[in-house]
Amino acid sequence: MATVVGCVNTSHIPSIGKALAHGLQKDPYWSPFFNGFPPIHDWLAEVKPDAVVVFYNDHGLNFFLDNMPTFAIGAGTEYVNGDEGVGTPDFPPFQGDEALSWQLVNYLVDHDFDMSICQDMMVDHAFALPLKLLFPGLSPFPLPTVPVSLNTVLYPFPSARRCAALGKTVGDAIRAWDSDKRVLVVGTGGLSHQLEGERAGHLNPEFDKQFMDSLLQENPDWLSQFSSEDIIEKVGTAGLEIIMWVAARNTLQGPVREIHRNYHIPISNTAAGTQAIAPFNLK
Ligand code: DHB
Ligand code: FE
Repeated sequence: MATVVGCVNTSHIPSIGKALAHGLQKDPYWSPFFNGFPPIHDWLAEVKPDAVVVFYNDHGLNFFLDNMPTFAIGAGTEYVNGDEGVGTPDFPPFQGDEALSWQLVNYLVDHDFDMSICQDMMVDHAFALPLKLLFPGLSPFPLPTVPVSLNTVLYPFPSARRCAALGKTVGDAIRAWDSDKRVLVVGTGGLSHQLEGERAGHLNPEFDKQFMDSLLQENPDWLSQFSSEDIIEKVGTAGLEIIMWVAARNTLQGPVREIHRNYHIPISNTAAGTQAIAPFNLK
């Protein structure tokens, strides 16, 4: 049976791509963010994942206003990277893990999650940058991937409760997979930020901390008490991306331990958070 080795949740700001392209990791502006990663790199070197499932939100690259699935999953051989035109170079295509994709698709549909199934799917900064941060300097990206996109850009949004249930079912699907693969789960987005409107620049460090703490509980469903509107009120319109963290964390079962966390405000307009969590009994 396959194993979920842990989850890493992190923000996905496009300007990180520029910082990577220009080698700005030690720059005073960037170092408080990039310094959050070496302990996670050490842990990844120990647990040696050989596939990655990524919960992220497409921002209008692959899905647009005329076609917006609530939950979509990739089942392709590769995923081409493109972005929203901020001038960051695209990365080479990311390899797909077709066998894992179909295991997830079949299990999810069998367990009442009617996913949009995409054999052709482009991936934006929200997918590409966190993977680059976790496995720096490796190009093309070395591990096969499965993208899972959750809608946070166009009403109506999936509830935190539903995203928690989706994450739990993805975890069950991985554990039910007849394979000895070790799967890492990544959630991207958040933490608090709002990019437009009267509250542009809104941040909420108190809520962000409470949220990160909640993911360390054995029952990590704290965010499910809030509606999407409540979450937006607390962490901003784009802060709703924290539902990716909820989905990723819920793939783990039982007690967990925090491998590392980092929090720095702001990077661009965003409260930049990173948190790696592993099952308590797994190294
Ligand atoms: C920023 C943050 C995001 O989550 C995003 O998708 C785009 C931009 C920002 O802070 O600049
Ligand atoms: Fe975003």
